[in-house]
Amino acid sequence: MIIIAPSILSADFTKLGKELKDVEKAGADWIHIDVMDGHFVPNITYGPIIVDACRRATSLVLDVHLMIEKPDLLIPEFAKAGADYISVHAEACTHLHRTIQLIKSQVKQNSQDKRDEKDKSKKDQLKSGYHEANASTNCNSGEANTKPTNVKAGVALNPATPLSAIEWVLGDLDFVLIMSVNPGFGGQKFIPSTLEKIKLLSDMIKSKNSSAIIQVDGGVGPKTIEDVAKAGATSFVAGSAIFNTPDYTETIEGFRRQIAG
Ligand code: DX5
Ligand code: ZN
Repeated sequence: MIIIAPSILSADFTKLGKELKDVEKAGADWIHIDVMDGHFVPNITYGPIIVDACRRATSLVLDVHLMIEKPDLLIPEFAKAGADYISVHAEACTHLHRTIQLIKSQVKQNSQDKRDEKDKSKKDQLKSGYHEANASTNCNSGEANTKPTNVKAGVALNPATPLSAIEWVLGDLDFVLIMSVNPGFGGQKFIPSTLEKIKLLSDMIKSKNSSAIIQVDGGVGPKTIEDVAKAGATSFVAGSAIFNTPDYTETIEGFRRQIAG
């Protein structure tokens, strides 16, 4: 399955809800949310509050890329806010195996529940006239016959980090994120040596009988997406190459044609 994941880092934040609707209509599969803390990477973006807003604005999968130190402290908050997939950087985790288990132990939130929760909280505030409304955090409560499912776990690797960093946790992973730029900013140039790394990861996944998805992030666009797909990736994160174009549908359809070869 091919997954196109627009990164909202390049979206227009004065109209985030509309941007999400527009990429959803244009055929996006996942929404990629780049969380930066100003320590692990030299930039600061957003936290759980934006994930929560995205959760209420779209039913698409929310793929949260944590470029932060000490991710264990915030993983439950991001899950509660509505993340479906969470990736952490191998370089930021001392006990990577433990962190992966923490992600996988989180229960996914339901999009409609999040909207209901917000409505209820507003109504409660109106009724009581003060601002400490008790928002319900029940998971999946609004969907009859829906079994709670857990958050999926991924590990991201910087361009200089060897694949051996994930060798002994690959069996636990739902996806591996190969960074094809040094993380921190959108609109950077794709690092060509990444292609060889994707091929080697693809071999590693086969040899270990893993079902992990290969996701590639950074500088992915019309000039690189075909090679990235040929190397073995199936999940494509693109920020500037989508949000800086006038017609998202045309852009995403173009990507799909290029991936198909
Ligand atoms: C970089 C982020 C990327 C970024 C990609 O640190 O992880 O997701 O948004 O942006 P583009 O597609 O513009 O290279
Ligand atoms: Zn990213």
